[in-house]
Amino acid sequence: SVRVFSGMQPTSDSLHLGNYLGALAQWGPLQDDHEAVFSVVDLHAVTLPMDPAVLRERTRRTAAQYIAGGVDPERSTLFVQSHVPEHSELAWLLNCLTGFGEASRMTQFKDKTAKQEAGAASVGLFTYPMLMAADILLYDTALVPVGDDQVQHVELTRDLAQRFNHRFGDTLVVPEYRVNSSTARIMDLQDPTSKMSKSAATDKGVIWLLEDAKRSAKKIRSAVTDNDGVIAHDREAKPGVTNLLDIHSAATGESIDQLLERFEGQGYGALKVSTAEAVDALLAPAREKADELLADPAELDRVLARGAERAREMAAPTLARVREAMGFLPPQ
Ligand code: TYM
Repeated sequence: SVRVFSGMQPTSDSLHLGNYLGALAQWGPLQDDHEAVFSVVDLHAVTLPMDPAVLRERTRRTAAQYIAGGVDPERSTLFVQSHVPEHSELAWLLNCLTGFGEASRMTQFKDKTAKQEAGAASVGLFTYPMLMAADILLYDTALVPVGDDQVQHVELTRDLAQRFNHRFGDTLVVPEYRVNSSTARIMDLQDPTSKMSKSAATDKGVIWLLEDAKRSAKKIRSAVTDNDGVIAHDREAKPGVTNLLDIHSAATGESIDQLLERFEGQGYGALKVSTAEAVDALLAPAREKADELLADPAELDRVLARGAERAREMAAPTLARVREAMGFLPPQ
């Protein structure tokens, strides 16, 4: 069956609504008709400075939120990236196939370094996309469900797989990406022309999966809109209202047209109250489930150990194929 792979960085205590709607909400349903592999990508999380105790805690928290958000560790393979050393080795080999200029064109790298002094970024941040390519290619992945901001990285992954196959013979599966157009880019509630992000300057516009429901509701009620007072879906002219409609629609499954009809003639206040309720109804069960899982970290660690074992069984043969194709002398 068609293999699916995706992952998130354990770089905050909680996932945000963008991670949830843009990525995680797609993952659960894909398990029904695909063989799915989901990773907490902790090696990616150390490309920026990271406190060791915090990394450990966030790795567990991220795994718990995967399960709470619908990943079933019995049906799918759920593991921590650093538990499977094949990722680092394939990443090295892919680094050697990537052009310096090609890597320099990655917009996420440019965005993340724009805020720093020139030269202050780690080399790991620069090679981040090739580690991501390794994640995907090790599992013969056909489909990568992600949000909008990861599409360029999956395109690089496709290029690298094709380049490898061309140079060394047919070895790697060339993956496709899947973005859900209405939730691929959930925007910051206070700054609706910027995407919701873990690293926003303030979290007033960020809804956290694990935060108190009252705080989330307050943030949604304070969302930035516009002055014309008409509820309409128009990303360019009305980014704030459009973001609320997209969130509402994703949370309840109602179409944008249904929502526009329902709120016709009403003010932004009504839309905000209803969106806050919809988000709470969506997140409350996941929040509870995550809390439950985090109360027993030893069991969570056992689940992750089983996942890592299964992941290695898939990753090792792919890496062996790659080594063979590239001409590495096998150890005797
Ligand atoms: P990360 O951890 O930044 O984000 C995890 C997922 O959430 C999506 N996302 C969003 N979707 C909609 N609206 C938003 N505002 C929003 N913000 C984030 C991201 O697109 C992503 O799908 N490099 C990846 C992690 C990664 C990975 C992989 C993903 C490493 N290896 C292999 C797929 C396959 C990242 O930093 O995602």
